[in-house]
Amino acid sequence: MKFFIDTANLDQITEAHNLGVLDGVTTNPSLMAKEGITGDLNIINHYKAICSVTDGDVSAEVISTTFEEIIREGQELAELHEQIVVKVPMIKEGIKAIKYFSGKGIKTNCTLVFSAGQALLAAKAGATYVSPFVGRLDDISTDGLALIRDIRLIYDNYDFQTKILAASIRHPMHIIDAAKIGADVITGPLSSITALLKHPLTDNGLVQFLADYNNAALKDK
Ligand code: G3P
Repeated sequence: MKFFIDTANLDQITEAHNLGVLDGVTTNPSLMAKEGITGDLNIINHYKAICSVTDGDVSAEVISTTFEEIIREGQELAELHEQIVVKVPMIKEGIKAIKYFSGKGIKTNCTLVFSAGQALLAAKAGATYVSPFVGRLDDISTDGLALIRDIRLIYDNYDFQTKILAASIRHPMHIIDAAKIGADVITGPLSSITALLKHPLTDNGLVQFLADYNNAALKDK
């Protein structure tokens, strides 16, 4: 299972990378805006900076919505760096573009996926990754993880090679449940990944081990 971090924040990407468990990065226009990255040149340089931190796939999202524009923008993004994956929205023009990119050997991430039918279309078009948004489905009282389960079943039935990238991950239980279901990748904030470290029995146990060591050393003196 791969761990991607869902942010454009270079400090957080570096922290996840230094932890040794980072396999890639996903961004979107909202995440870039949150970091104050605006203007084509700044955005391009920021993608390059992200690629210099991680050696995994980096999803860069197009803002175009017509086939011709998605192709033009996506090709420019793909040429920036070999790690760039062109993130394309789940719309009719996006599916056409994913099919085109697939034929050209350009990696794609089909984003804003909220149904099994959309995921099936993305796989048929040859998407490298499909991004079902778990948290945003939960937000509207729908079971986001049930969608991951459905997509896993469908892809396995037909041996589709598209990777299930469970996106909009909000907390560690989303990661654990996605792992149980067999999602290929999760992408979430750094906090959702570092939360996996935490257990009170680990903390209490370590305090006790260190105290016992120090007490025994004192007795030796
Ligand atoms: O990058 C797409 C997705 O992961 C967004 O997550 O938390 O904004 O729903 P969120």
